[in-house]
Amino acid sequence: MTKNDRANFGSKLGVILASAGSAVGLGNIWRFPYETGNHGGAAFILIYLGCVILLGLPIMIAEFLIGRHSQANTAGAYQKLAPGTQWRWVGRMSVLTGFLILSYYSVVAGWTLEYIFEALTNGFAGKSPEQFIASFQSFSSNPWRPILWLVLFLLGTHFIIVKGVEKGIEKSSKIMMPTLFIIILVLVVCAVSLPGAGAGIEFLLKPDFSKVDSDVFLGAMGQAFFSLSLGMGCLCTYASYFNKKTNLTRTALSVGVIDTFIAILAGFIIFPAAFSVGIQPDAGPSLIFITLPNVFQQAFSGIPILAYIFSVMFYVLLALAALTSTISIHEVVTAYLHEEFKMSRTKAARYVTAGCIILGIFSSLSLGVMKGYTLFGLGMFDLLDFLTAKIMLPLGGLLVSIFTGWYLDKKLVWSEITNDGTLKVPVYKLIIFILKYVAPIAISVIFINELGLLK
Ligand code: PFF
Repeated sequence: MTKNDRANFGSKLGVILASAGSAVGLGNIWRFPYETGNHGGAAFILIYLGCVILLGLPIMIAEFLIGRHSQANTAGAYQKLAPGTQWRWVGRMSVLTGFLILSYYSVVAGWTLEYIFEALTNGFAGKSPEQFIASFQSFSSNPWRPILWLVLFLLGTHFIIVKGVEKGIEKSSKIMMPTLFIIILVLVVCAVSLPGAGAGIEFLLKPDFSKVDSDVFLGAMGQAFFSLSLGMGCLCTYASYFNKKTNLTRTALSVGVIDTFIAILAGFIIFPAAFSVGIQPDAGPSLIFITLPNVFQQAFSGIPILAYIFSVMFYVLLALAALTSTISIHEVVTAYLHEEFKMSRTKAARYVTAGCIILGIFSSLSLGVMKGYTLFGLGMFDLLDFLTAKIMLPLGGLLVSIFTGWYLDKKLVWSEITNDGTLKVPVYKLIIFILKYVAPIAISVIFINELGLLK
């Protein structure tokens, strides 16, 4: 594909919604609440916000400029910008990370379909909290059902990907993102007005620093990268479809604000809801699958139709959020195969979908019949989550910041960030300072600390 016939997002809004669509996903609504719950609440959120501002936004701008300048998939981008060097491995690692994330992310995305099905068929009606816990456990460890939904979800993603960038990714994001936002607002209002919701709000707003240890920092950093879709060339790939007029700094700021806002709103749904029915916030990955159906039943016990509507709405919201993200991860790997191995987009997408289905099946089974098979004490699903979110994404972010801050030609960086001098970017020097010093040092310190070397 030559520079001129390369696909492009058709509008500024499309650029923001597609990028925000990638960022906003299960990371915000499923992962953020349970990580916050596991790490003690408000103190974790403050450290998380620090990571978003100090590391996330500058690294997002760096990924944008690498992608837009090179007009290539993430692996191709490093090859173009640093030909003949080892930097190409950064791009390749990104593609691998994307593939690994997609395979376990789709397992959870598949769960959302089961819960939509349950909600639609009124399967939540009359269940007690214990029954919700038991039915989640029996569903997620069932060898067949989760796999069926996983396959369906990946086929849905595949279908949008083969439609292409403008007609598939951009158009679907323009419909799904506003829908998601409306549903989330309605649910926040509903959750905070539940009896006993105050304890959940306090958990979110009152920091308890006695719970802060090195794990919290690694958790917050990993969550920031995961949630902002950073460290695996995803926004770099999307930026290769931006046009020359896109303001990279402003786009990064919009995506960062939308993503953080939605994560916090999700917190305002889940914690008031969990506390109000007496469920512990550290229930882990199952948190939203056991709390929410329960909440809707209890909150609207006198008005079952509302319980029905809100349950359906919530899981549709989750599925939409997941879909705009799975599309973006799929695109990283598809664009790589399509451009580097010169295969058609459809064929490339087929390989990605098939590969993810196979790995996804093992991830799914690791929560049930293959529970006994572990590596470093973790089953496949947990291992992939730990390895990608806590190691590979921050490592990718570290390398992106070093590449942009130290390796790339300063003029190239300047002309991308300022659109050849036509934009005033007052924080330009700050961005460069962070990419050169702050990000590499902060990420390395968090890694070293976690390995226990500083203790
Ligand atoms: N940011 C997505 C979420 O929060 O659910 C997940 C994700 C998408 C991670 C794309 C990484 C990525 F490249």
